[in-house]
Amino acid sequence: MPTLATTVNGLKLPNPFVIGSGPPGTNINVISRAFRDGWGAVIAKTISLDASKVINVSPRYAKLHSGSGEVIGWENIELISDRPFHLWMDEFKRCKDEHPEGVLIASIMEECREEAWAEIVERCQDAGVDGFELNFSCPHGLPERKMGAAMGQDPEILEEVCGWVKKVAKIPFWAKMTPNITHIEEPSRAALRGGADGISAINTIRCVMGVNLDTLKPEPTVEGYTTPGGYSSKAVKPIALRMVMEIAAMMEKEFPEQTVSGLGGIESGEDAAQFILLGADTVQVCTGVMKFGYGCVKPMCEDLLTFMDKHGFETLAEFKGKSLPYFTTHADLVERQGARKAAQKAAAAVEVEQKAKVSSDAEWTGDSFVQQSDSLAQG
Ligand SMILES: Cc1cc2nc3c(=O)[nH]c(=O)nc-3n(C[C@H](O)[C@H](O)[C@H](O)COP(=O)(O)O)c2cc1C
Repeated sequence: MPTLATTVNGLKLPNPFVIGSGPPGTNINVISRAFRDGWGAVIAKTISLDASKVINVSPRYAKLHSGSGEVIGWENIELISDRPFHLWMDEFKRCKDEHPEGVLIASIMEECREEAWAEIVERCQDAGVDGFELNFSCPHGLPERKMGAAMGQDPEILEEVCGWVKKVAKIPFWAKMTPNITHIEEPSRAALRGGADGISAINTIRCVMGVNLDTLKPEPTVEGYTTPGGYSSKAVKPIALRMVMEIAAMMEKEFPEQTVSGLGGIESGEDAAQFILLGADTVQVCTGVMKFGYGCVKPMCEDLLTFMDKHGFETLAEFKGKSLPYFTTHADLVERQGARKAAQKAAAAVEVEQKAKVSSDAEWTGDSFVQQSDSLAQG
């Protein structure tokens, strides 16, 4: 009987499905609900020491629908949590009291000052959380204060900040990457060099959802204006898979002990299987929970187990990264295809030659008559 249970950076998870940072982990009510419904771990909504600087607007979401009406893309211009830090510390403590077995990960973000990062790490640690995710990837609102994606796009700063966290963290921490960068391996490598125990990828992709053709205003429209936001949901999965593949391939060679948490558009056990096949240890779901509710973890677990059963995999480790060796360069694809075609041509020529050989009079055929005659001639 296959098992979904897994140990990641020393954290024991009943399954690899983790609530991704965002509205599904935004206070103790919803975090507790996630644990009750069987999620493997919860990453809370990103917090900072001073929530008074966080001012959200409304509307802050916009959706992209397919022809059949399904939501396939989701833009948000939401900031990190606007709830006071001391409230979060109380809730983290209560949450760990109520769910001692539940793996609770604090998502944190601060300005580029060592004292600020040290303080937020120490205070969350004291509140009893099991791990951290450092948010280096929020694409809107915070980069203006040199936070979020502004840090994630600068490998030097990333390495330095991870080093500050490493000095004070007694629990594992992952660095969450922004996809709004050309080569995702570079900031990932910097974070790991700085001491991160794992990489989470991806956060949202900077986007403009669309323009309303009646009002001529881009959406979501706030007082007649908008700002580019972060794109998530099903439509981003191919991009997330590519980035997770690139990170995992780099880490297999350079950081084999560290882990990968994959996210971006995951909505099913089959989606999760694909991320794990490309090197993820855990998979996170954020927008999927906003579309389907907390109960979606149950069919996800069942479908992942069905996939494992079909292939005879007993544990997640048995298929983690199993599809990575099938990536190569385009030049190599051309070479492999050329070699296959040449081999097929050579085999066809041998077959023609074989067919042309006559060992009894019954083998003469009308179609190969000339070749058969030739094959019996010398010189
Ligand atoms: C409304 C909304 C709010 C989010 N807030 C945060 C956040 O506070 N911190 C963070 O690291 N990621 C945040 N994210 C990003 C998600 O955690 C995730 O990286 C991204 O949406 C891709 O995964 P998904 O397609 O499963 O949502 C947010 C996403 C959405 C849709």
